[in-house]
Amino acid sequence: MVEVLYSESDLKKVVTELAAAIAVDFKGKSVLLLGLLKGCQPFLADLCRELSCHQIDLAVDYLQVSSYVGTASSGKVAIKQIAADDSFCQQRNVIVVDDIFDTGLTLKEVVSWVLENGAAQVKSCVLLSKSGCNRTEMTPDYCGLEIPAAFVVGYGLDYNEKYRELPYIKILTENE
Ligand code: IMP
Ligand code: MG
Repeated sequence: MVEVLYSESDLKKVVTELAAAIAVDFKGKSVLLLGLLKGCQPFLADLCRELSCHQIDLAVDYLQVSSYVGTASSGKVAIKQIAADDSFCQQRNVIVVDDIFDTGLTLKEVVSWVLENGAAQVKSCVLLSKSGCNRTEMTPDYCGLEIPAAFVVGYGLDYNEKYRELPYIKILTENE
């Protein structure tokens, strides 16, 4: 038996709600969704599809970001640009999209990076946020679910590159 924390239908509902909240703020505007690879992938794809129901002029780009070794943050955030064009953030309304907010160090670094690269404004959107782990003064602007401070996998979230393909989210157990 798999201990599912959030099922496919739970996740669909949350993503629909997040898209509606983003639409309240950005209806009629243009938005660059900036996904953080690799964990953002299923969430970003579903969020895009939900946003297509709202009148938002949408573009998508990615940054490759890493900080985790096994089940703990290394505290050092490495950012690698994927887009060929250096000016891809300039004058844009950027929403940084990540799978999970834990210490907050990743989102904090990326938000600063996006502002330094000339964005008109930057917001952040995460599917999950871990309670009591934030080591920064920032909080995500859009957050799907608050979870306990456990290590979770599935729906893009990995443990050493495994489990990203699961359509649901579960807590990683010790014998995995
Ligand atoms: P932060 O910088 O500590 O906020 O960590 C954010 C990043 O760490 C996310 O983009 C994930 O890649 C990874 N991460 C944090 N917690 C988990 C988890 O429970 N499962 C899988 N990845 C995680
Ligand atoms: Mg990540």
